[in-house]
Order: sequence, then C-alpha cells, then structure tokens
Amino acid sequence: MPPLLEELASLIEEVRNDAKSAATPNELAQVKARALGGKGFLKSALSGIKDVPSEERKAYGQQLNALKNEFEEFFKRRAAEIDAAAKAEAEFFDSGLPGMRVQMGRLHPIRAAMRNIVDIFVSMGFDVFTGPEMEYEKYNFDLLNIPEYHPARDDMDTFYILPGLVLRTHTSPVQVRVMEKIKAREDVIVQMISPGRVFRRDRPDATHTPCFHQLEGLQVGRGISMANMRWILDEFARRFFGPETRTRLRPDYFPFVEPGAELAVTCSMCEGKGCRVCKETGWIEVMGCGMVHPQVLRNVNIDPDEYSGWAFGFGVERMAQVLYQVPDARMFFENDMRFLRQFS
Ligand code: PHE
Repeated sequence: MPPLLEELASLIEEVRNDAKSAATPNELAQVKARALGGKGFLKSALSGIKDVPSEERKAYGQQLNALKNEFEEFFKRRAAEIDAAAKAEAEFFDSGLPGMRVQMGRLHPIRAAMRNIVDIFVSMGFDVFTGPEMEYEKYNFDLLNIPEYHPARDDMDTFYILPGLVLRTHTSPVQVRVMEKIKAREDVIVQMISPGRVFRRDRPDATHTPCFHQLEGLQVGRGISMANMRWILDEFARRFFGPETRTRLRPDYFPFVEPGAELAVTCSMCEGKGCRVCKETGWIEVMGCGMVHPQVLRNVNIDPDEYSGWAFGFGVERMAQVLYQVPDARMFFENDMRFLRQFS
C-alpha cells in the first residue's frame, strides 16, 4: 500500500471483500459505486487533493490514479467471474433430479379410426381417393340422381356457398369424380374408397355435428353383384368391430343406388342379445349402401348393361361412437384432453 493512501486502507479492504462476496451483477455495481461512483471514496479523495502539501501532491495523485485503474480492472474481472458462475449454474445438469414427463402427442380418435378403416380396405385392394370439400351441386347432387327439387335434397340440409357451389354433404360426389375419369375396359374398373370431411346444417346433438367425417366406397366392374358388396362389408365389419360381428342388410332408399340398403352390425355391448346401447334390438345401423343406380353410371358414360357396381358410405364418428361406446359425437370436436387421452 503506498504510504499516502494508508488512510484509505480500511475502505479499500472493505470494498475488495464486499466485491468478492457480491453474487450478482447488481450487488457488484453497488459495491463498485462505493469506490468509483460519483459519491465514492476515490472521488472524494481526488477532490481532497488540494489539501495535500504541494510537494506530495503529484505522488498522491499518481497513486490515486493507479488505484483507480487497479480498481477498474478488479471490478471488470469480478463481473466476468460472476457472469461465468451464473452461466455455469444455468448449464448445470443434475442427473439425480427426477425426470420431466414428456407429453407425447397422439392421433385424434377420429383420425386413428379413419386410418384403421382405410388400412382394412387398402388390404382388400381398394385405392384411396379424395375430393374437394367445396363441391359443385352437379357432383354433390345432380349426377348422383338427386335433381333440384328432389325431396332427398331436404334430407341433407346444405351449406350453400355460391349458386351451384356447396359444402359437400357427403363423400358420394367422389364416386362420380372417379368414375368420370375411368375408361371402361377391364373387368373390375373401379375399386376405391374416399375418406373426408362433410358438412350439414344440423343442430348439434349427441349424434349430429355440422362437420363430420365420412368414408365412401365403390366397386364397379363386369358382373359385380350385391354378393361382392355383402362379402366385403362383412369382412370389414369383422375386422373393425371384432371377429364375432355379424351384419344385417335391410332395404333403404338413396337416390343413387338401386336397390338401396342399410347395413347394421351386431351390438358389441350385448353381442346381439339386446341392451340399452342398441335399444334392445341387438343391432346397430352403421351405413348406407346399395347397387349403383344405372342412371348414375350413365351420367358418367359407363354402360349399365355391361357394368354394374355397388357403393357404401358411413359416418366415421358414428363408427367410432359404436366401437368405443362414446355417448356424444360432440366430444370428438371439443378436444378435451381428458377425453382424447383415453384413446391410444
Ligand atoms: N351418401 C349417403 C349418405 O351420406 C350414404 C351412401 C353412400 C348410401 C353410398 C349409399 C351408397 O347418407
């Protein structure tokens, strides 16, 4: 310690020690201000220089300056140390801490059901097509044998976008789009499914949502009959609902099939004995189907005297509701994680 600075010795010592124990940049800045700040002791020592006897003044000034420089260096080093310590702490990995649970994403039950259904049909040789969700009335209705003023248009309350343009009310227009492109020359000319979203102006309740998913199927070829339909739909029902599942066909009406039918499966809750879920009937209706109407074939330039086909369409939410016994279709759209996590 230069002799002239002896009276500052205890202050210097104190600032050094406090700077060493300062743990944050903020604490360090406060200590630094006590030495080098506007009201710091070095500042007041410098302004007291005029009271120092003139022969010692120069040496005293030099010593004060040296001390100031030394302090500045010292605080810079300390700041760097504090920074490094904070960084090391932030990077420290404690391998003894319990692990953090990672939230794994999973498929939405409807997406999972769709993939499952698509896989089943693909394994039976069906191709997958998609069509637009905004559809021409021509495809959604007219070419499917549902002309304007046909009462069947009332069954599907439609969202109209522009004249001639609707949100498709079913996936059946994709049948028409695919058949239109087909050149009839082989035995089986179409064997396709089409999954996708459809829209109806329905008031939401336990079995209706204004947007839902359908899956359409179509097989066209020479000598295709209802027996082909029956076999494929039986096989599908067994693979989707379980090997014990049986099916029942009953006449139903859709303008684009003739004869038209409705397919029911045995209730998986009671195995067909009758329960609350199947309203004591033992059967649950799951889809519409039937032989493609000759007029629909003619509309796409396929000769109904040479070719025949069958088609089906069903709601994926309904299938998932039956399979998982989900009481309300709206649950699929509310995205409550407590509900969604139950499906893996
Ligand atoms: N498109 C019909 C519906 O949405 C279902 C259906 C498809 C019926 C194909 C018969 C054949 O209700």
